[in-house]
Amino acid sequence: MCGIVGVLGQNEVAPLLVEALKRLEYRGYDSAGIATLNDGHLDRRRAVGKLVNLSDLLVHDPLAGKSGIGHTRWATHGAPTLTNTHPHRAGPVAVVHNGIIENYRELRAELASAGIAYHTETDTETVALLAQHHLDKGASPEEAARATIAQLEGAYALCFLFDGEDDLLIAARQGSPLAIGHGDGEMFVGSDAIALAPLTDRVTYLEEGDFAVLTRTSLRITDAQGTPATRPMRQTHIDSARVDKAGHKHFMAKEIAEQPTVISEALGAYLNGENGTITLPEGGINFAGLERITMVACGTAYFACVTAKYWFEQLARLPVEVDVASEFRYREPPITEGTAALFVSQSGETADTLAALRYCEGEADIILSVVNVDESSIARESDLALPIHAGTEIGVASSKAFTCQLTVLLLLALKAAHARGHLSEDGLRAYLVAMRSLPGMLNEALGIEEDVRGLSQELSKATDVLFLGRGLMYPMAMEGALKLKEISYIHAEAYASGELKHGPIALIDEKMPVVVFAPKDALFDKTVSNMQEVMARGGKIILITDAAGAKDAGDGTWQTIIMPTIDPVLAPILYAVPAQLLAYHTAVAKGTDVDQPRNLAKSVTVE
Ligand code: M6R
Repeated sequence: MCGIVGVLGQNEVAPLLVEALKRLEYRGYDSAGIATLNDGHLDRRRAVGKLVNLSDLLVHDPLAGKSGIGHTRWATHGAPTLTNTHPHRAGPVAVVHNGIIENYRELRAELASAGIAYHTETDTETVALLAQHHLDKGASPEEAARATIAQLEGAYALCFLFDGEDDLLIAARQGSPLAIGHGDGEMFVGSDAIALAPLTDRVTYLEEGDFAVLTRTSLRITDAQGTPATRPMRQTHIDSARVDKAGHKHFMAKEIAEQPTVISEALGAYLNGENGTITLPEGGINFAGLERITMVACGTAYFACVTAKYWFEQLARLPVEVDVASEFRYREPPITEGTAALFVSQSGETADTLAALRYCEGEADIILSVVNVDESSIARESDLALPIHAGTEIGVASSKAFTCQLTVLLLLALKAAHARGHLSEDGLRAYLVAMRSLPGMLNEALGIEEDVRGLSQELSKATDVLFLGRGLMYPMAMEGALKLKEISYIHAEAYASGELKHGPIALIDEKMPVVVFAPKDALFDKTVSNMQEVMARGGKIILITDAAGAKDAGDGTWQTIIMPTIDPVLAPILYAVPAQLLAYHTAVAKGTDVDQPRNLAKSVTVE
């Protein structure tokens, strides 16, 4: 989603703004722009499409100035056109915005009645027009920004630049993340610390309702009540080098291939090799005292939660409720005593998940999060944040973050099972030994890539695909369907195998590929029966199973992919690989933009 940067620098800022915007590309965007104070006067350059278009424009039409703001826009209000591209300008004010101003129609009407016209379809232009209106009435830039923000409803991270004010940036946050970077005689603003990494490693995160006035040598913050506030400055540990594809064609390919390594790192962070126990960050979790866990997440992270529900309930006998954050936050679910609330998010900035977390504050016994970005809002606002150690994930379609989320969630479930007396020391140790073999097994599983590549050529011709699974393979089917639709744009749906006869079987014909995840586990025979029902109606089965499963049920399938044999409890972590590879190679065969699929954003910071 939209990314914001701002620089009060000692040198020309246009290249710094573009570089910082490049580091925000992973969030997803469809246009980009920058504004600077050139000889004290506002000027801007904007371009639709990829950042390279903005860079090219700046080569032919450079922008001078030592202070400026920049933006990558993921369209919400108005198409991705040049007119709608940020920074938005109204006379002496330029502004960049991430979020949604929900009352912009009312504000526009008020401005219109004062004779002020608007020229774009965006909600953000209203912010610039309001600030100009206040300036026109004699307000200082700070007063104008404060008065503007007091009128806004909705979510925003904003950064203002004013004509003639070369040593001033004003930033404000409500609902969307914003960080301030401290340099030597320089000051920066960014949607996250990743954007600021080449500029500084000293960062202050604004809190909800904060309003910040920056000069090159000072930072003054007031809170939502307008009271002066002090926010801690943190040392970040983000690599300033931009992550590259390491020889792969796409980031997603690299991230799929990295899974043995990152899962090994995740295991290393939580497993105590000497005594075979699971170590949690300080504070820990009193699993024995819990009555239930409420898990909340979006997208792929939600499917990780659904998988974890099976683990916690079967292994630890701990009831789990799982919800998508956008439903949970407005349903007003009662949070009763003995509840741990657990939020799973790669980015740690997903607006709905963060809102759900805030709903549980003061209600749940403990707020837990499983996050990849350990300085994110969700991590910072949790009682205990459990990092997944996946490293930076650039591909919009989550791959390594999903398997690392599963790894950490399984470790938690095992810890809970042991703490609640449902798993002996020996039993726990046996699972941990099996988990230690995961990196090797993932390497082996990656060996199916050539088979999948060939199959994907055929799959790319399909218009609809069904995914089936039972038990722990049901969430895997859901994840497989999501992966396929988001990067190949093929319509895909997942069903619990047992649900097939309750409706979806009507869809089956000789054109319908059906992907079945079925390792030879306790539920295998039941899934195979469902598979036979599909084959009897001409459906084309892609069976993903192990050697024993292939021997028993491989006959008559369109294609059988044979996975390494693994303990059924650990199978979701391994079977994510064929789900990812199938989607990836189908998308490559179709020639889609794998890393930045149309309409999608990596970090969904608006609801
Ligand atoms: O950053 P988060 O894990 O909170 O993001 C949640 C979803 O937006 C994300 O998993 C999305 O569904 C991915 N594109 C899936 O590949």
